[in-house]
Amino acid sequence: MTDDLPALRVYAAHGAALAQRYETIEPARLFAPVLDLLPPPPARLADIGAGSGRDAAWFAGQGYRVTAVEPVAQLRAEGQQRHRDTGIDWIADHLPMLSGLHRLGHRFDLVTGIAVWHHLDADQQARAMAGLSGLLADDGLLILSLRHGPLAPEAGVYLADPAHAISLAKDLGLTVLRQVKAGSVQPGNLVEGIDWTWLVLAR
Ligand SMILES: C[S@@+](CC[C@H](N)C(=O)[O-])C[C@H]1O[C@@H](n2cnc3c(N)ncnc32)[C@H](O)[C@@H]1O
Repeated sequence: MTDDLPALRVYAAHGAALAQRYETIEPARLFAPVLDLLPPPPARLADIGAGSGRDAAWFAGQGYRVTAVEPVAQLRAEGQQRHRDTGIDWIADHLPMLSGLHRLGHRFDLVTGIAVWHHLDADQQARAMAGLSGLLADDGLLILSLRHGPLAPEAGVYLADPAHAISLAKDLGLTVLRQVKAGSVQPGNLVEGIDWTWLVLAR
């Protein structure tokens, strides 16, 4: 695990409890802001920061070919155990570089980063956008959910500014298909006043 990604220590310490909480979320409800834009199965998907594998399993169940990328061993283990026999490929790797995923040489029709962008500082976000863009197939989509709420840089919770993300994406030649605000689907996040911007970026 790397020193410049303090969030990973937090996830490692609470992996099992967090996985249990994540699994209570209904993916169809979570993805409601962008459902109509998802490419149909058997599109090839990479879910970055896959956590417990909830969304990866939902996509795999629909016939997507899914690679789940999760840096925290405790969460990967939860995901592999909870979603056995789903055909998901699990990879230990992390933003901003995703070197291991890039080494595989795949291009993806859909790359998702759900509730992960705020764990990168502004410089890391710039490097991450370049790497994520490079993973997209022609006409591939990158879907990010950006968290708005209290910041805690010491714990790896940074500003996720939609204007910054869009500017980075446009500089790389990506097109914004959707920018939409959405409330939290987790009761605890609702209480904290956290909400989200969903971005759909196209190659
Ligand atoms: C808030 S959780 C969201 C998990 C999952 N996407 C979901 O929606 O349930 C953030 C996830 O991003 C992962 N993560 C944090 N920093 C990361 C990084 N630099 N690269 C990749 N994943 C990261 C964490 O380990 C955790 O699984």
